[in-house]
Amino acid sequence: KKGSYDHFMQKEIHEQPHSLKTTMRGRLKDGGVLLGGLKEYLKTIRRCRRVVFIGCGTSYNAALAARPFVEELTGIPVTMEVASDLLDRQGPIYREDTAVFVSQSGETADTLMALDYALENGALCVGITNTVGSTLSRKTHCGVHINAGCEIGVASTKAYTSQIVAMAMMALAIGSDQISTQARRETIISGLTNLSSNVSEVLRLDVEMKELASSLIDSESLLVFGRGYNYATALEGALKVKEVALMHSEGMLAGEMKHGPLALVDENLPIIVIATRDACFSKQQSVIQQLLSRKGRLIVMCSRGDASAVCPSGSCRVIEVPQVADCLQPVINIIPLQLLAYHLTVLRGFDVDQPRNLAKMHKKG
Ligand code: UD1
Ligand code: BG6
Ligand code: NA
Repeated sequence: KKGSYDHFMQKEIHEQPHSLKTTMRGRLKDGGVLLGGLKEYLKTIRRCRRVVFIGCGTSYNAALAARPFVEELTGIPVTMEVASDLLDRQGPIYREDTAVFVSQSGETADTLMALDYALENGALCVGITNTVGSTLSRKTHCGVHINAGCEIGVASTKAYTSQIVAMAMMALAIGSDQISTQARRETIISGLTNLSSNVSEVLRLDVEMKELASSLIDSESLLVFGRGYNYATALEGALKVKEVALMHSEGMLAGEMKHGPLALVDENLPIIVIATRDACFSKQQSVIQQLLSRKGRLIVMCSRGDASAVCPSGSCRVIEVPQVADCLQPVINIIPLQLLAYHLTVLRGFDVDQPRNLAKMHKKG
């Protein structure tokens, strides 16, 4: 039921304060993390040589958002695989690997074929899925149900943020034996505890994002630059815009800007730059300066109170968001972009819940 909302995508975006709570419910205990589905496997995972994340579309992007904090909290090297590309290459997967499969539906064909391949190669296979009883949940050795509630809109929104939070809890659980990162883990756990209220706050940008959307309806293209924790935010924001608003959009690594993308910059092409506070902030400030010196049309996402720090000339459109623990910031930062994609789609007159040529997988009977 859509209730008071016009579309499922809209409902699911606004549901995130609640869906994130259900993802965490019963799992943050006594200042630590308890994931019933992983606890018997934590010792094995800690001994693995590598974590390989495998998924498609939005689920791949969620894994990419998790990569930096999984590396940081576990010390285990993490590599990324788009499921179809792993299969095309028949890339190396070993017994010493932990292969983590991320899928909202748990039924995406490429992801399931990659799972069969990893099982044949003897890897420990872990699932991160929203669907209890799905093929992914059944065939993996262990895993975490993200418990975001049924997602109906073809464009994934609440599952994305719940996947990131589930993987943050996974990283905390794997790293929980490390004394050197104890204080860092406590900061992240307290960030998780407050996350839902920060999500409620960022959802208040709805009207502002509708205004921004109306200024972009006739654009041919939209670029999104991110880096570090928010490289995934750039890819996922752009994916939302292309899959529902049917507008060409690319997410790009800001560190690669001078190696090609800079050639595209002019006064017409809108560019979103994600520049919330973290260790990469000063690098993003310099990216903004370089884009402005080429007359780029900029929309800058920054932490609240940072408008003049990111754009001293006042010539950028600024989106201010609440600041949370740096590694959880992707959960906050994607929300204005989900809202933007939603409003852009409605204003352009396209079908929000059933985008052209796309489908969502459902559990088989
Ligand atoms: C489980 C119960 C939950 C209950 C809680 C109480 C289920 C589905 N979950 O949640 O209702 O409130 O105990 O302690 O009954 N798994 C996979 N692959 C996946 C996902 C999960 O193999 O992709 C496995 C897990 O390893 C675990 C089982 O499925 O054995 C349930 O996982 P999950 O629901 O995440 O476990 P809990 O949070 O403990
Ligand atoms: C694609 C959808 O087919 O599958 C994407 O168009 C989705 O929106 C992707 O993100 C992966 O789906 P799942 O269920 O494996 O997370
Ligand atoms: Na299983």
